[in-house]
Amino acid sequence: MKPVEARPVRVALLGCGTVGAQVVRLLTEQAVDLAARVGAPIELAGIAVRRPNKHPGIPAELLTTDAAALVASDVDVVVEVIGGIEPARTLLGAALAAGKSVVTANKALLAEYGAELFTAADASGADLYFEASVAGAIPLLRPLRESLVGDRITRVTGIVNGTTNFILSAMAATGAGYRETLDEASRLGYAEADPTADVDGFDAASKAAILASLAFHSRVSAADVHREGIAAVSAADITAAKLLGRTVKLLAICERVTERDGSESVAVRVHPAMIPLSHPLASVGDAFNAVFVEADAAGQLMFYGRGAGGAPTASAVLGDLVAVARNRVIGGRAPRESAYAALPVRPMGQTPTRYHISLDVADRAGVLAQVAAVFAEHDVSIAAVRQEGRSVDASLVIVTHAASDAALRSTVDKVAGLPVVRKVVSVMRVEGEAP
Ligand code: HSE
Repeated sequence: MKPVEARPVRVALLGCGTVGAQVVRLLTEQAVDLAARVGAPIELAGIAVRRPNKHPGIPAELLTTDAAALVASDVDVVVEVIGGIEPARTLLGAALAAGKSVVTANKALLAEYGAELFTAADASGADLYFEASVAGAIPLLRPLRESLVGDRITRVTGIVNGTTNFILSAMAATGAGYRETLDEASRLGYAEADPTADVDGFDAASKAAILASLAFHSRVSAADVHREGIAAVSAADITAAKLLGRTVKLLAICERVTERDGSESVAVRVHPAMIPLSHPLASVGDAFNAVFVEADAAGQLMFYGRGAGGAPTASAVLGDLVAVARNRVIGGRAPRESAYAALPVRPMGQTPTRYHISLDVADRAGVLAQVAAVFAEHDVSIAAVRQEGRSVDASLVIVTHAASDAALRSTVDKVAGLPVVRKVVSVMRVEGEAP
């Protein structure tokens, strides 16, 4: 291959953990190919880390503890794989203000301060790329930002957290409860020592905010996302789902909702839901991620792959880095923030959802009528009922049509308090089929 002679594109790497180390490896191993693809060599100018003595195998002369000085030095691009809000926010703000392009994997920062970063990028003409922030290796943000930009996206439904998908898949396979499955996932290294961000849905909520912003050309932040984790999912919920030909997944759902007057809003939520086994997301097992996109002209699209891990995430970072470097060499820019639609975010209580409710009730005349009356009282229409007598008790399974989430919650609360209801076995939202 002919050597590339253009001036190198100098890169500062912030962070050298699981992902950063793989970025360094790929940059080194593929240097010749990357230079040919970019039209200039990509040169690693320095790596900011907290403890330089913890990185054997990385050339010591590249390591520094002074991230701010590295960002301020003569680098063209800053790649951030530290995570968290600070110091990433300050460092990337400084880079963009100085016209240095940024590649980041930081979903929390983008979901909270994305608008600030985009404003800084636009002011200086720098690029801001963040493919690795959602669903790791899966090319997803660039398809939403570029390939589908001529279409009208109506809904994005994703399994965007590998830890929770691993736990729910294991619960479905073994019949075990949440707590023991989480312990097993921690033992196998699938769950962090502190799994809160994953199991309580914070990680997925940040990703949902990023996806909704891109899909609906509106600013959506993590605080706009209704969030429920998987800690309350029980073995009984998983069994109830199986009996209905469904499975339980933690979904990030971003949808365009048309109001009665024709105006539009967006509803963005993360919660466990039962989906039919026939749904493309139902077969996504272990720690894999997948995102199902529905658009007017394109129809249904499915993106599937590894959502975490050093090398898969580094693949997405490198893809962005090549794009930024190419822009530096041949001119051009990443797409700017597109938030022109400015659709309002619909509160969860007003968002249409469907529920599955499984109850143990007394088996005598009039019980079904009493339960059904509560649904009627809240204007919630029942789509299906199954009742099975078991001596003095009966099992009653109800699936609703779509109604506002607030009405469904009130219905469930009132039904749970009926004297004829012995036990609420399972309550869960249902997604993935026509209402
Ligand atoms: N902790 C995330 C997961 C990966 O479990 O999928 C990083 O976003």
